[in-house]
Amino acid sequence: MQILDGKTVANAVKEQLITETVAHKNATSHSPHLAAILIGNDGASETYVASKIKNCADVGFKSTLIRFDATATEKEITEAVIKLNEDDDVNGILVQLPLPKHINEAVIINLINPTKDVDGFHPISVGKLVQGLPTFVPATPFGIMLMLQHYQIETAGKHAVVIGRSNIVGRPMSILLSQNTQYGNCTVTLCHSRTKDLEKICAGADIIVAALGIPGFLTADMVKEGAVVIDVGITRVADESKKSGYAIKGDVDFENVAPKCSFITPVPGGVGLMTIAALLKNTLAATSAKQ
Ligand code: GUN
Repeated sequence: MQILDGKTVANAVKEQLITETVAHKNATSHSPHLAAILIGNDGASETYVASKIKNCADVGFKSTLIRFDATATEKEITEAVIKLNEDDDVNGILVQLPLPKHINEAVIINLINPTKDVDGFHPISVGKLVQGLPTFVPATPFGIMLMLQHYQIETAGKHAVVIGRSNIVGRPMSILLSQNTQYGNCTVTLCHSRTKDLEKICAGADIIVAALGIPGFLTADMVKEGAVVIDVGITRVADESKKSGYAIKGDVDFENVAPKCSFITPVPGGVGLMTIAALLKNTLAATSAKQ
């Protein structure tokens, strides 16, 4: 069993980005610039956005964080997105999800200029992804693809099972793994809460991507000997022994699943770090985006 180490791969991606960013700055006298909008004060969202901002600084990007109270109106968020669309200094825009219930997510995502859509959530970006055209790939599935590439994991002809059909992870992941590309060419089964015989489907999988947000959901009896297991879960679970008062738990029962795997990602230290590295890659790409 080999651990797919997010720290090693993310650091390799970031080193490359540092070099490319220096070259970009020398050529244009401009720093890649990511703008993040954060609404409300959900603890997990705060942590993710803070990490995105810090990682921008690590690789020499500029970043701007625009914060709103949870009571902000859709009009206020709309105006902020339009302003960022019009700001020539800003290359990438992300609106941290989930949004408060009274704000329509689709309306806000639709407003982002697709050339600045570094999350890859705009319908134009999604359409291009489905057609296999160059576009911004959502950061978590993109990060997972970078990991498969780094460890040169054979995917062609394999049966990949993706658990979870979210627009952020599961659905784009299923598209990427099924595409006719070097780390695609899988036969993909996309499973969700209404899937029958999930245990049986997982037990037949060569590759499993668990992205449903239920800690410890994927147990050893659901995993074939030699499978590749990618854990996207990052749920906060109360833990008195931690200073923060919580521990981060993945969707995989790591202790019992790991011994059966050929490769497995840990949580923390796996996919989460890759998500940020992939977002940074998209932001640098946005400096020359003609999407
Ligand atoms: N919430 C959870 N994951 C993501 C992500 O990748 N991007 C944004 N904008 N919000 C998220």
